[in-house]
Amino acid sequence: MSARRATAADWPQVAALRTRVFVEEQGVPAEIEQDAHDATAVHALAEDDAGRVVATGRLLVRDGRAVIGRMAVDAAARGRGYGAAVLAELHRQAVALGLTEVELHAQLPARGFYERAGYTAVGGVYEEAGIAHVTMRRPLV
Ligand SMILES: CC(C)(COP(=O)(O)OP(=O)(O)OC[C@H]1O[C@@H](n2cnc3c(N)ncnc32)[C@H](O)[C@@H]1OP(=O)(O)O)[C@@H](O)C(=O)NCCC(=O)NCCS
Repeated sequence: MSARRATAADWPQVAALRTRVFVEEQGVPAEIEQDAHDATAVHALAEDDAGRVVATGRLLVRDGRAVIGRMAVDAAARGRGYGAAVLAELHRQAVALGLTEVELHAQLPARGFYERAGYTAVGGVYEEAGIAHVTMRRPLV
């Protein structure tokens, strides 16, 4: 399973996947799903055997810290390692930028996925876009 950094040419497929997962499946308002950070973020993706984009995520740098978000795997492709591959690619990109720690806001049902990837929850549960989240961090070494 491999993932790669997305290029500008990939954006329509990346955006369509995020819309399917966050807007259509989870009910996040379309006007907050895409935001100004998308223009500057590093985006990663994984494709299935047919070349369709089935997983994505993005990396931002905030206050000197790597922040990962918008992790989304096509519903039909979950549980096959695509999410882990995208996360690993975002970690590689963060290391290449010289960053030493990564933070993310995990949806509660996805907490176990991030724990499996070495993240630890910090602090309590809060709501974002109407969905319960917890902040998680992981060293990048
Ligand atoms: C959460 C999500 C990104 C995981 O991606 P995925 O491709 O299904 O996960 P993977 O197949 O790469 O799983 C990697 C490992 O995490 C585990 N895992 C996956 N989802 C999990 C979950 N929700 N809870 C606990 N463990 C989980 C897998 O069993 C696997 O473990 P293994 O290494 O022992 O085999 C995906 O399910 C998804 O897009 N969900 C909907 C949107 C969402 O919740 N996004 C997260 C926003 S914070």
